[in-house]
Amino acid sequence: MSETARRMFLRHLLMSPLMAAQSPEASIERCLDVFDFMPLAQKKIMKWHWAYLQTGVDGDLTLKRNSEAFQEIQLRARRFLDTSRIDTTAEVFGERWASPLFICPVGSQQAFHPEGELATARAAKARGRQMILSNMTSTHVRDVSKAYGRPPWYQLYVSDDWSVATHIVKQADSAGCPVLILTVDSAVGSNRVTMRRGGTKADAVCQSCHVNSTAGYMKEHPMYDGADTSKARGLTGFITWEMIDRIRAMTKMRLVAKGVVTREDAAECVARGIDGIIVSNHGGRQEESLRGTIESLPEVVEAVKGRIPVMLDSGVRRGTDILTALALGATAVGIGRPYIWGLGAFGQPGVERVIDILHEEMILTMKMIGVLQSSAIGAASIVRK
Ligand SMILES: Cc1cc2nc3c(=O)[nH]c(=O)nc-3n(C[C@H](O)[C@H](O)[C@H](O)COP(=O)(O)O)c2cc1C
Repeated sequence: MSETARRMFLRHLLMSPLMAAQSPEASIERCLDVFDFMPLAQKKIMKWHWAYLQTGVDGDLTLKRNSEAFQEIQLRARRFLDTSRIDTTAEVFGERWASPLFICPVGSQQAFHPEGELATARAAKARGRQMILSNMTSTHVRDVSKAYGRPPWYQLYVSDDWSVATHIVKQADSAGCPVLILTVDSAVGSNRVTMRRGGTKADAVCQSCHVNSTAGYMKEHPMYDGADTSKARGLTGFITWEMIDRIRAMTKMRLVAKGVVTREDAAECVARGIDGIIVSNHGGRQEESLRGTIESLPEVVEAVKGRIPVMLDSGVRRGTDILTALALGATAVGIGRPYIWGLGAFGQPGVERVIDILHEEMILTMKMIGVLQSSAIGAASIVRK
């Protein structure tokens, strides 16, 4: 082959779709922070599902605020310390975790990758991270438990039909889930404009796979198998204290309220025997409060006074965000969209890499700012801009 022919052949090869699929930009090693997974996932996920993943509500301002609010808190770096050995563990409900980072419940994960929750569970197992399984899981809790190696924490949406809620609680209970997460921020559906712009179940293209009704949606999700869903008018409904008392009487699982953002509710949770709180605004997908969860955290921590664990999610994108939340009193910190970007882009290895990146960022920052123990970081390590 002549030199010119060889060069032309190589050029042709480099421009071929085969090479594009394996282009260096698409390799997992080239993902240096969690944001690098986003465009790669977007390429692989159907545009309607991508809109469902990325959406906030109204003008997506709370979604943005969640991350921006972290950037208004600065870290104070201490010197003259030997930080060659640090401790990143966290203790939650008497269990020692390798890291304070946990996996938030995200529904319908097969919309993002064919292996969905099973890939997430295997990654969480490989990295020793606590996983919370969504009520809207695409795979039944008993199969996710096998992939995870133990039962995950289970998240519950209480529909307006009590018999349906009972059915779900019983299944989580018999799967052996130790903790039930009550999502309390989703009493009514929210105004997901970005999602609706991307397409809704009323669109013909969506209807080729989905039935646009509560019963239809429940039917797509295996946790509702065997339940009579004909009377349920909504996937989610109001959670009153009376309902929580009834759930408490039904199960020995620990109860954690997810979506608490005020001192009043936090104090009431403690008074009524709730075992833990997740300060969350559902990743900016419920009310357009314009308030980042990191801004809500201090008042919740103050009201709880260390009596139960206070966890936080929404807008966490960096190891520094994890440390900021811990410094403000969080016991553990959750991620939603970032691991789904990893899942969508690369499946299980993508979720593992997202977890690793955040962990590496956190470790490096701890060493540089002089924090020897992540669980001991406090207000002295931060300052507001
Ligand atoms: C696509 C998607 C689906 C979600 N599904 C659920 C769910 O089924 N149950 C729930 O309690 N929270 C759900 N959430 C909220 C997450 O548990 C978590 O609160 C949020 O994603 C954290 O914010 P982040 O995405 O900015 O990290 C979902 C979030 C997303 C993005």
